[in-house]
Amino acid sequence: MAKPESNRHFTRNLVSGVGIGLRAEHYQFVKQEQPSTPWFEVLIDNYLGHGGQIQQHLQDFSEHYPLTFHGVGMSLGSCDPLNKTYLGLLKQAINTYQPALVSDHLCWTGFQNEYLHDLLPMPYTDEAARHVAQRIKQVQDYLNIQILIENVSSYMQYRISDMSEAEFLVYVCELADCHLLLDINNIYVSAFNHGFDAVEYLDLMPAKRIKEIHLAGFEDQGGYLLDTHGEKIHPPVWELYREAIKRFGVQPTLIEWDNNLPKFYVLQQEAHKAERILNDAQSHAA
Ligand SMILES: [Fe+2]
Repeated sequence: MAKPESNRHFTRNLVSGVGIGLRAEHYQFVKQEQPSTPWFEVLIDNYLGHGGQIQQHLQDFSEHYPLTFHGVGMSLGSCDPLNKTYLGLLKQAINTYQPALVSDHLCWTGFQNEYLHDLLPMPYTDEAARHVAQRIKQVQDYLNIQILIENVSSYMQYRISDMSEAEFLVYVCELADCHLLLDINNIYVSAFNHGFDAVEYLDLMPAKRIKEIHLAGFEDQGGYLLDTHGEKIHPPVWELYREAIKRFGVQPTLIEWDNNLPKFYVLQQEAHKAERILNDAQSHAA
């Protein structure tokens, strides 16, 4: 795979512009066509512990594009002990492929070794914040990097919560001294489902901690919105993205698409749309 012209001068440890979530269905296209996508985000859990062809894909992509690692395996909010096997494999992959960013979610995904295949929200309390922040610190110490934590979309809330999701997120980031991956679609979905104001949420976010933004599509289920990553980004999410860029400046942005995956050019069209918003913001700032 020859190095794409537009990626010759990338700095290995930095990403900028609009990246695309790399999925197996597009591997061949990306290898053959070498699109000028500035960076890719890989779902790193799919590669950990695998050798052979799967590892070779990661090797090939890392040689030609800057990568970021995105995972769901830390279960940072859980009460189970941290999974040392998982973290060991992740550390190995970080050392081998030197991703620009490493992220997981502010959530829990299992209890007593039962994996629930969902990113479940935490109760927003002081005790829960201290608990998860301590675990994020442990992970950061072990991996020897600052990680990004992402806000999840949610469909339930806890009666014992005594702060808002936004307040909880900011508090955890401060306690853990970690970075923030702001998923604009998740904010929009949760704001609709729970009746909070998405712009007020943005107003609370600390610009200095935001290192990446996610954009994705949701599905309208009638009474609530479902974060499916299965369609184009909806107009109000684009609007909220503009608001975010106004507040936080130009940030590395990722197009996430997981279900009903279309041809790669559709993701590129979404990426170009985001690029135009970033370029507008840059020209206004100049
Ligand atoms: Fe996301």
